[in-house]
Amino acid sequence: MKKEKLKKYRRWTKAQIARFITVFILNVLLMGGILVGSIFLNGIGFNAVEPDFVEYFTTMSGQFIYLMIILVLIMAVTFVYLIFENREKIGTVKDVEMIFLIIELTLLCNYFAGRYINIYFRPLALGGLLTLLLVNRRSAVFVAIVTALLTFLMDVFTNANYAATVSANAQYSSLVIGFSTGIISVYLIDGIGARIKVFGRGVTTCLPVLICLVLLEQTNLLSHWERIVAGASSGILSVVLFMAILPLFEWLFKKLTNYRLAELTEHSAPLIRRMIEEAPGTFNHSIVVSNLAESCATAIGENALLARCAAYYHDMGKLRQPEFFKENQQDSRNPHNDITPELSANIVRAHAKDGYEIVKRYGLPLEIADMCLQHHGTMPMMYFYAKAKQFKDGGDVDVEKYCYTGPKPQTKIAAILMIADAGEAAVRSLKDRSREKVDALIEKLINERMQLRQFEDCDITMKELTIIRNTITNNLTGVYHSRIEYPKVNLEEIKTEESE
Ligand SMILES: [Fe+2]
Ligand SMILES: [Fe+2]
Repeated sequence: MKKEKLKKYRRWTKAQIARFITVFILNVLLMGGILVGSIFLNGIGFNAVEPDFVEYFTTMSGQFIYLMIILVLIMAVTFVYLIFENREKIGTVKDVEMIFLIIELTLLCNYFAGRYINIYFRPLALGGLLTLLLVNRRSAVFVAIVTALLTFLMDVFTNANYAATVSANAQYSSLVIGFSTGIISVYLIDGIGARIKVFGRGVTTCLPVLICLVLLEQTNLLSHWERIVAGASSGILSVVLFMAILPLFEWLFKKLTNYRLAELTEHSAPLIRRMIEEAPGTFNHSIVVSNLAESCATAIGENALLARCAAYYHDMGKLRQPEFFKENQQDSRNPHNDITPELSANIVRAHAKDGYEIVKRYGLPLEIADMCLQHHGTMPMMYFYAKAKQFKDGGDVDVEKYCYTGPKPQTKIAAILMIADAGEAAVRSLKDRSREKVDALIEKLINERMQLRQFEDCDITMKELTIIRNTITNNLTGVYHSRIEYPKVNLEEIKTEESE
């Protein structure tokens, strides 16, 4: 399995390589098209000084070829960086396509805002912010640098008027403004969960623009106050476009952002609503597991929202036959009493695969569906195995028939989910829920899973397992605390005392 995992990350098939190359060529053409389009728009009567489209290509064809060579080089470096530096996050052709689309979209927005409104009113933070939410901070900083560089090149090489009339100092200022705004915005927004806070903080992305304007162009500012107004408004444009475009990318590339995760855990989400109505016992179990998983993820520095969301959906497969699961039986009869242990095991085992299918059918991201499959790993269902042995008077029973089919947890969050899920179910059935008993039980559950090599496909450490054990014990002792024994009161005696 380990080898398979490495293979998945380090080797591509010929078909995949061909797709990567096709995506690269298509995006070079698309980016080239954007530059040609900007040359065309620059030449159609907006300013008489600028050469028209035909004139540009007859007199400045050498400059255009130079621009295209630089473009191909920048895109090649971007492509190599994305593929080799951030392999875990950008492993597919679709991911690369998404990043190139973000760069192209930012370039287009920068062009139109700069061309038709003001050069300082550009949404310079847009590319970095989209990449931050859809991929990660490392790629976001790189995208911010690339978009600043491409915007600068577009200004200088496709706009003869700009190159001729704007001083070299001002041109370099705009490059510095592009870099600093993009990079600082990424750090300003990183880690903010709620959309409204992102909006508030996003508006402040105009600060780098203003600081650079004041420091680099102080002599021109008194006569060009509109630059300050445009610069101050650029943060609003960046954040409005970011808010509008992000859901489109989430949907188009099936990406999980913190906003999407928060929406998926709302009780009004379609699948959650179904679970509340059809399997209320499983819903209550999932709520407790989600609290445990969230605390554990926070404690070991993993994505707490992803852990919470995965826990909400991990048992969705139980919606197929909810009555076969203990938490939904309440006082009704247990249907497992009427069937063989083997059939019972088949029904219970199926909930992992069913969950995967249901979650995917509802259009949820693959990360969540995968955790439905992995949350029991390849663990045996000991209850049905023991029952089958009993039926055969202690004779041989194939344990494989009573095991989940896996795969084993592939990520730290999947491992957390496995422990939290088993922990909640086991502690619920415990009579003595003192801290010592709960801690001993969680330790036993983790040890059993280690002995059965359930964590061999994820890179969780012993130290993290200890943190998880302590976190779950603390949380479950709080949830299932022992009740104070109330003294018995005779109501009849109270009534008599009151009437006296
Ligand atoms: Fe389960
Ligand atoms: Fe569960």
